[in-house]
Amino acid sequence: MAKKIITLIPGDGIGPEIIDEVIRVLESAGAEIKWDVQCAGEESERLYGSDVNDELLKSIAVNKVALKGPIGTQKGSGHRSTNVFLREHFATYAGVRPVMSFSGLSGNVVHSDVDLVVIRENLGGLYSGIEFPRGERETAWFRLDVKRWTGREIPNDSAIAVRPISFKQTKDIVHFAFRYAQDNERKRVTVVHKANILKVTDGLFLDTAREVALEYPKIDFDDMLVDNCAMQLAKNPGQFDVLVCPNLYGDIISDLSLGLIGGLGLGGGANIGEKVAIFEAVHGTAPDISGRNRANPIAMLLSACMLLRYIGQREVGDTIEKAVREVVKEGKHLTADIAKARTRPVGTKEFANAVIEKLK
Ligand code: NAI
Repeated sequence: MAKKIITLIPGDGIGPEIIDEVIRVLESAGAEIKWDVQCAGEESERLYGSDVNDELLKSIAVNKVALKGPIGTQKGSGHRSTNVFLREHFATYAGVRPVMSFSGLSGNVVHSDVDLVVIRENLGGLYSGIEFPRGERETAWFRLDVKRWTGREIPNDSAIAVRPISFKQTKDIVHFAFRYAQDNERKRVTVVHKANILKVTDGLFLDTAREVALEYPKIDFDDMLVDNCAMQLAKNPGQFDVLVCPNLYGDIISDLSLGLIGGLGLGGGANIGEKVAIFEAVHGTAPDISGRNRANPIAMLLSACMLLRYIGQREVGDTIEKAVREVVKEGKHLTADIAKARTRPVGTKEFANAVIEKLK
């Protein structure tokens, strides 16, 4: 098989150390991939004076598939998130985040019967990043317009965010969720919303989802308020199958779901568009453990397995995921985030070595 060229972005924080191990595992499993290594985030800032650069964007545009490590974003100030920029730039509208319990794992596990997939609308909602700072002229104009249009007063010391929910983006993501359910033998799609309060925006999301659902009569469909969904997840996550969510809810619900099965170190993910797909773990740069061989590489390994299936190397992806799950089940080589109390955890490298042993 000819090697497929894939853009590889090691990223910031724990990114490079987990990506190194993922590459070793993929090579041992016989993945037919040639990596086109590019930088974004801190390294790009150093080399190009900006968090993204033309080489990176060209590489993703040509290769159409990327594996990306996490990239840090300053809180409250600084430039817009590089991650959000890349999702928007390549129109990767569907965030796909499977959350599946690991058999035999007990460290940090709240529930062991989770098998759900969060499909997150990736481009709109509160992540549009359209915000008006407190005290600026445009903010005052905006408040005046709102007063004129609605008769409602926004306090004059407010910062304001705009939350666009687009009909087309909603249709696209709900179709994606149903197609995903069909292709992966899933039985039910639940739309998560807050349409009792956000009657217009989440109302549009819910109504559109109901309309789209009619086109998929073989898949069950229901809806749930996001606050109830969080509570139901905490109590009985086994009831869920595919959850389709507006942008911010999807982000929160997927982290919450991962918290139930052992933490962020276990969450693989993909951002899929019509032309480009970028695979990345759900977690961030984990600055608290970065550079210490402590990060769990499972999330990035599962993201790479999703990538392998996407590029037609399903067997290799399935083999790696099986090996990862076997290592976890044996419980002898677990990183600190998922190791049982009073057992000695292994490092990132040692976990990858155990997976490679399983592949032999
Ligand atoms: P985080 O996901 O980096 O860390 C949250 C907690 O989970 C920390 O205690 C961390 O040690 C732990 N954790 C995360 N990944 C782990 C792994 N693989 N193994 C073991 N433990 C792991 O979230 P946080 O601290 O909110 O964000 C840190 C930075 O990452 C921020 O700059 C944020 O903007 C960025 N970020 C980037 C993302 C991306 O590139 N897609 C996604 C989320 C956050």
